[in-house]
Amino acid sequence: MQVSDNADVVQRSLQLLAAHRNELSAHFFGRLFGRHPQLQSYFVDSNHAWLERKFASALRSIMQAATSPQEFEKQLGSLRETHQDRAVEAEHFALFGDVLLETLAYYGGRGWTPDVEAAWRSVLATVVGAMGAPYELAADSSLPNRDAAAA
Ligand code: HEM
Repeated sequence: MQVSDNADVVQRSLQLLAAHRNELSAHFFGRLFGRHPQLQSYFVDSNHAWLERKFASALRSIMQAATSPQEFEKQLGSLRETHQDRAVEAEHFALFGDVLLETLAYYGGRGWTPDVEAAWRSVLATVVGAMGAPYELAADSSLPNRDAAAA
């Protein structure tokens, strides 16, 4: 699987970024909400510590998609559900992913090379694809509501 090839690169770059562990989350959400204020409402009652936890779990699941895709797939159902329940839209994932990459690049310094970025992009594309798919299905199936009610 293509993502496994990127696992080492992604894992190593996260180790390098560990020195900035405390800054990453604040930087990420500052940038995300600055650029896309409409996303702030999803995190409305959240405090700094909560955002840090959310950021860490997002990174963990992306990491897992790279290092153990089978484990990632096991939690994919509940991950989709969490986001679907909160009505996160498919296009939000790409915005989230882009800002995440910018944040990692910002703190990545010289370790953030085109190869590292390519590996992250590839893993993110897999994660966003896996999480985005059900939203398309939901959008399609939400049109014929009467059919759903009759089923
Ligand atoms: C690649 C993109 C993303 C990944 C990998 C990701 C990952 C995660 C993970 C691992 C959790 C914790 C799940 C749990 O506790 O069951 C979570 C929760 C959550 N995510 Fe995401 N997420 C992504 C994108 C987004 C986006 C775009 C939004 C909204 C704009 C969002 C909003 C939330 C919210 C509101 C929660 C709920 C946390 C809670 O109530 O405990 N996420 N996400």
